[in-house]
Amino acid sequence: MESTENTIGILDSGVGGLSVLLEIRKKLPGTPVHYIGDSAWCPYGNKAAELIQSRSYAVTEQLIEMGARTIVVACNSATIHAVEALRARYPIPFVGMEPAVKPASLCTKSGTIGVLATEASIAGEKFHTLLKTHIHPKGLKVITQPCPDFVSLVEDGILDGAKVEAAIREYALPMVEAGADTLVLGCTHYPFLRESIQSVVGHDIQLIDTGAAVARRTATLVEDNEGLAPISVHTTGNLACLERLFPILCPSLPATLHQITIA
Ligand code: DGL
Repeated sequence: MESTENTIGILDSGVGGLSVLLEIRKKLPGTPVHYIGDSAWCPYGNKAAELIQSRSYAVTEQLIEMGARTIVVACNSATIHAVEALRARYPIPFVGMEPAVKPASLCTKSGTIGVLATEASIAGEKFHTLLKTHIHPKGLKVITQPCPDFVSLVEDGILDGAKVEAAIREYALPMVEAGADTLVLGCTHYPFLRESIQSVVGHDIQLIDTGAAVARRTATLVEDNEGLAPISVHTTGNLACLERLFPILCPSLPATLHQITIA
């Protein structure tokens, strides 16, 4: 695929960042995109910060080699543990994403927010800074919950049904029962379960994710072209899995699918 000066690179631990790719495509249809899902190392959410950082370097270098000139870190865990290091190391713009704690703090009426995110994100210093800035000074209450099964369900292309419902009942329902009226989908895999989550927790509960905001931010950094640009999606995992999953997660999005090995 040909690259241009405005080519975007998107990275995630797996297919979760495709939820961000969909938003970016809506805003920037004429901008070429290379996406790498590091499925061979998925999940990042239970890995040490150093490992998340070294995988983020390796995947970023591959995206730059493919021609990316702006990188979207479409992974909250990688943003929390690696985005500052990436910015210091590579002379190109990086757009990161963190759990939407600030928008949630502005939305809640009950004063209790639930944050669904990976274990790595919840443990990160950047996440604690978000709480110190937006939650504690307002006297709000926050409940955090890692959801490892959400990631594996999405990686398996299972977006609804009994297993999904059971996981939502385990992770999200107790937050609502404890008074949360706003739930942050703080991992890019989770928006693929949005409809299922909403139907279990009820339509009075606000679900917030940052995919659209990240796309808006990205659009301030690159100039879109006329027409539809190519999208290439690479997995460090199994190509047959990606070929099965991609039409489920991104129905009717034209893209070429590839396997890539990144040491
Ligand atoms: N999608 C990623 C995130 O936003 C990571 C999920 C995982 O690999 O655990 O945090």
